[in-house]
Amino acid sequence: MKRTLAIETVEKIGQEVLLQGWVDTRRDHGKITFLDLRDRSGIVQLVLTGSRLVSKQGETPTTEDVIEVTGIVKDRPAAMVNPKIPTGTVEVEVKTLKIISKAKELPFPIDTDGYDINEEIRSKYRYLDIRRPRMTRNLRLHSKMTNFIRNFLIARDFVEVETPILTKTTPEGARDFIVPSRLQKGKFYALPQSPQQYKQLLMVAGLERYFQIARCFRDEDPRRDRAYGEFTQLDLEMSFVTQEDILQLTEELFTTLVKEVFPHKHIAQSPWPRIPHAEVIKAYGTDKPDLRKNKTDPDELAFSWTIDFPLFTAQSKEDFYYGSGKAKFAPSHHMFTAPHPEDIPLLATDPLKVRGLQHDLVLNGFEVGGGSIRIHQQTIQEKIFDLIGFTKEQKAQFDHMLTAFTYGVPPHGGIAPGVDRLLMAVLGEPSIREVMAFPASSSGTTSVMEAPSDAAPEQLRELGITIVPQKK
Ligand code: AMO
Repeated sequence: MKRTLAIETVEKIGQEVLLQGWVDTRRDHGKITFLDLRDRSGIVQLVLTGSRLVSKQGETPTTEDVIEVTGIVKDRPAAMVNPKIPTGTVEVEVKTLKIISKAKELPFPIDTDGYDINEEIRSKYRYLDIRRPRMTRNLRLHSKMTNFIRNFLIARDFVEVETPILTKTTPEGARDFIVPSRLQKGKFYALPQSPQQYKQLLMVAGLERYFQIARCFRDEDPRRDRAYGEFTQLDLEMSFVTQEDILQLTEELFTTLVKEVFPHKHIAQSPWPRIPHAEVIKAYGTDKPDLRKNKTDPDELAFSWTIDFPLFTAQSKEDFYYGSGKAKFAPSHHMFTAPHPEDIPLLATDPLKVRGLQHDLVLNGFEVGGGSIRIHQQTIQEKIFDLIGFTKEQKAQFDHMLTAFTYGVPPHGGIAPGVDRLLMAVLGEPSIREVMAFPASSSGTTSVMEAPSDAAPEQLRELGITIVPQKK
């Protein structure tokens, strides 16, 4: 017999079906026992009487066991209908029961929202935590979002390109993760903090419209809206565009995405307000204001743009890892952002007054995306490297960009909304970890597998690495 899903039982009244899934709940009422069977489509009630509650192997099912049953789908008596679930009008009278796999008692309940359970335990048993309906829903929404984004962009002539993970530093202001090379002992790859340089190189390559659902790696302190280690961006880049084109495309993308994927949410204001940096700071004291009209309404989404950022901020060593530490200036976005054309003369006289063609996408008080029009002139790029205090060696690390800029570069720009952070903000989840499948903990330990771990002595030998014990 072919498997029937829980949700399909409502169309099979009177028929014999085979169901497979987990025991969600068990309720004993004397001679009769009710099991809720759960599969990817939802739950359906099973009714078992007498000896039917014992499998051929002599075992009786308990919660979270994986079972297989055959039985007849029946209408429930009117008084027993449960309007809260889609299969609430039916139940399955079980004929045979097989326990495919027994489950031990779970380390925590999964029928609650789970917010109050210790984070480390949830992380260690993440595969159980994901059984929680809220977590399953969040992962499904993550998938729906990226699928919608793909279809939307591909229909508009974008090309999806995968860029390398083993690469050279692509700084966004955090620390790099580095990976030792075996073939070239003593040398290291860096994991990309974003595909920024590759996407610009793809513009030099003539693709004109690129996107990627991209993994980014950053070694920085986690926060409520900042995952440790890695996260996902919708990274996109376009040639022959103005900042206006980027803002419009993004606005159309997310407006239609909200309608399709989150139909019960509403966007507070359209078109989205665009607020110059100086004004937003003056009015709200932050560059990511929460513009919801009613902050107690969980379904209100207030998008806005912050524009006209200063190109530089005064250098701070703590949050800026790629300068020499001696320069007075750090890029407020990143070092590839173009200065406002009217302000180019100020680069020589008063750099802190130069505006950048940067745009931040803000939602309900979170910075959910950042992007800019890029520098496409070699001379200006070099000038920026000087102002942020690059040494000769540091400049040499970016020679490929300067070289690429000598072979015919289209003007270009883009944006990278954080997929996880955006979903967290849309759903009003208290932490970004609630929308990620296997997030790392705040101490940098990964879910379930508990990396990082020791490397075998042979591996270290092959890499030419000696571990020096840390003095306590
Ligand atoms: P930026 O560094 O501003 O820009 O990052 C863009 C967006 O990525 C998300 N984000 C994060 N999400 C979760 N955890 C993190 N640790 C984290 N860090 C960043 C945020 C943020 O707005 N290459 C540029 C983009 C561009 O210029 O096109 C970049 O990465 O939502």
